[in-house]
Amino acid sequence: MQEEQGIEPPSGSENPSYDFIVVANRLPVHRFEGENGELLWRRSPGGLVTAIAPVMQASDGAWVGWHGATNEVLEPFENERIHLVPVPLDDEDLEMYYEGFSNSTIWPLYHDVIVPPEFHRTWWDNYKKVNKRFADATAAVASEGATVWVQDYQLQLVPKLLREARPDLRIGFFNHIPFPSPGIFSQLPWRKQILEGLAGADVVGFQRTADASNFLRSMRRYTDRTVKGSLAIPPASPEASGSSPNICRAEAHPISIDTQYVADLAHDPEIVARAKQIRQELGNPKTILLGVDRLDYTKGIRHRLKAYGELLAEGSVTVGEACLVQVASPSRENVERYQQLKDQVELMVGNLNGEHDTMEHTAIRYLHHSYPMREMIALYLAADIMLVTSLRDGMNLVAKEFVAAHTDDTGMLVLSEFTGAADQLTQSVLVNPHDIDGMKSGILRALRMDPQDASRRMRRMRRHLREHDVANWSQTFLASLGQPLPVDVLV
Ligand code: G6P
Repeated sequence: MQEEQGIEPPSGSENPSYDFIVVANRLPVHRFEGENGELLWRRSPGGLVTAIAPVMQASDGAWVGWHGATNEVLEPFENERIHLVPVPLDDEDLEMYYEGFSNSTIWPLYHDVIVPPEFHRTWWDNYKKVNKRFADATAAVASEGATVWVQDYQLQLVPKLLREARPDLRIGFFNHIPFPSPGIFSQLPWRKQILEGLAGADVVGFQRTADASNFLRSMRRYTDRTVKGSLAIPPASPEASGSSPNICRAEAHPISIDTQYVADLAHDPEIVARAKQIRQELGNPKTILLGVDRLDYTKGIRHRLKAYGELLAEGSVTVGEACLVQVASPSRENVERYQQLKDQVELMVGNLNGEHDTMEHTAIRYLHHSYPMREMIALYLAADIMLVTSLRDGMNLVAKEFVAAHTDDTGMLVLSEFTGAADQLTQSVLVNPHDIDGMKSGILRALRMDPQDASRRMRRMRRHLREHDVANWSQTFLASLGQPLPVDVLV
């Protein structure tokens, strides 16, 4: 079980300040009601939280973010040794800043317009207002010369706002999602303001080299900054052009997972037993295929189901011998595109199961839930083949978790070329999810792969993940943030 804790007041003085601050849209906790109706907080599952929590626990830092409910102002508190500074959102902010500008403008735009982004001036105004609120909350708790690490697309204006309020701070930004090419980015009516907002950071980190270079190309095209190598240098009178006075460096820092933690869980006897039980409950099929995603249109779930359905229809895969477990965790449920996707996926699952199920066996076990980490590891262990078929994905940590969990080097990963993870997990079966035939062959290749070959590939990928874990990610980013600029730029 995850640790559960009630609200504790922050330690130290009445107005504590911190030397290291993470700023993210969400706090790394969510609230639930205890048995006696008391308020308890639990660490949240999810990529960003998994990635940064170990770093926060190791340092005496604070995390500034939204606590997940609207119209409620909370005092700072502590949970699992992390100081938490809640930023409130009201219903209008939720609709315009979160569901609107963040998740219906920036999210689809940055994921290569898989669905058309919507551009609304009212959303933009609210995004600016909420970003200012996050910047103010951070400026209020940052000690002199503190390091602040801003996370993700919801807070792209925070670096510049923070620099204006607190020029003494060292500011980093990390973009967890892709950064699109200038041709796509140029659609954004507020492209210059967003670029200048990000350039307020000393270092802007991206998942892939391609994302960093997309960002620099847009900087060159749409701002008054001069781009030299990885640096975006402000003009002589920066304020007049809307620039902040700092030089900004863009770099690739692919995020990773807590590899050892995943491996340790994979050896936990309870989890190993649970994995066996899952296989039994599914009727002990020869092959379990697994998909684990937030229910998001970027994940290519429909493409995956189409490929799997065709394999079933052609008889290359038979129900009973194989079973696909598809976990689709609920996400952004008030956003129309997500509601449409849920309907489409559920229709496809219903059709395929109706067509192929037998009394004994199911073609797809569809689970519209999110699960705690322990259950996820049991599922990874139970599965033979992991299907990650995103149409576009900043990184995809599920792919990395699956590999790290298979400490005996069994299993195989089918991985979309359009994930950040594809740059690192090169020994997986790489597929283009738009190419249904190619994806079918990829799945069959993984199914029929010589076990020795598979095991050699898994071992190499696991070695990569041991060397490049989340601690390595944050250390490398923070080391780079602490580095002075090259002398020739400063003269
Ligand atoms: C992606 C984003 C994160 C976000 C997460 C969950 O991984 O990069 O910033 O927190 O999705 O989405 P949600 O909208 O529920 O925070």
